[in-house]
Amino acid sequence: MDNRPIGFFDSGLGGLTSVQELHEQLPNEKVIYYGDTARTPYGSKSPETIRKFATQIVDYLVSKDVKMIIIACNTVTSMALDSLREKYPDIPILGVIEPTVKKVIEDGCKKVGVIATKATIASNVYGEHLREADSDVEVYSCACPAFVPLVEEGIIDNKIMELTIKYYMDEFVKDNDFNNLILGCTHYPLIAEQITHLYPGINLYNSSAEVIREAKEYLKQKDMLAENSTIKDRYYASDLSENFISMTKLLFKDRESKIKLVEFSN
Ligand code: DGL
Repeated sequence: MDNRPIGFFDSGLGGLTSVQELHEQLPNEKVIYYGDTARTPYGSKSPETIRKFATQIVDYLVSKDVKMIIIACNTVTSMALDSLREKYPDIPILGVIEPTVKKVIEDGCKKVGVIATKATIASNVYGEHLREADSDVEVYSCACPAFVPLVEEGIIDNKIMELTIKYYMDEFVKDNDFNNLILGCTHYPLIAEQITHLYPGINLYNSSAEVIREAKEYLKQKDMLAENSTIKDRYYASDLSENFISMTKLLFKDRESKIKLVEFSN
């Protein structure tokens, strides 16, 4: 048994979709979440900058004595997972990409679309991992850089988002023959319903959820699952934007939590 919290982080509020899944699957687990809302989006930044930001956040989470770190961000996973694991060999660090690829391969998918940020698509990390696991898999990728800033602004369930989805995805879906689509950004589960509404025949894979299955298995295996405790969940952000606060309160209204501003110098 290990009652220490699990550390999560993302460039903003997208990783909250992963925390939501954790609370559903393992309600006794407590979290410390860091959303870098002042510096979002990461997906259009250079790999060096993304690694620098991620290292600052992981240093901070480690200083809070977390038992595991979940990189609830595809962009950071694709750019910094290896370097973070190298820097912190004693703490389990899970990224969102490997568990998602594992599930897609387990399900026997042969034609797979991936939507993600510019950085994740440019890294081709999904394509490489999928084809390494099964050389017959065909992978089609599409960067959708405007999704994250819109979600961070709370522009989610409305006409602007619908038009933006169509702008990026209409041709992508029409020109390529796939029936499975990886939501390769943890912000995207928040617009999954709209995507399904527009493209009903496509089966979605959610990277925010897949990593939690992996975390559950790891914690069980190592006998590190938490028991019911009075520790509160903590949500930190580099800018306490209205939308970060309201989304946190909306998603986790049934749990006791604290929200606080935590800044890093650039
Ligand atoms: N949620 C992050 C991801 O999964 C978004 C990155 C960004 O800020 O662009 O990639």
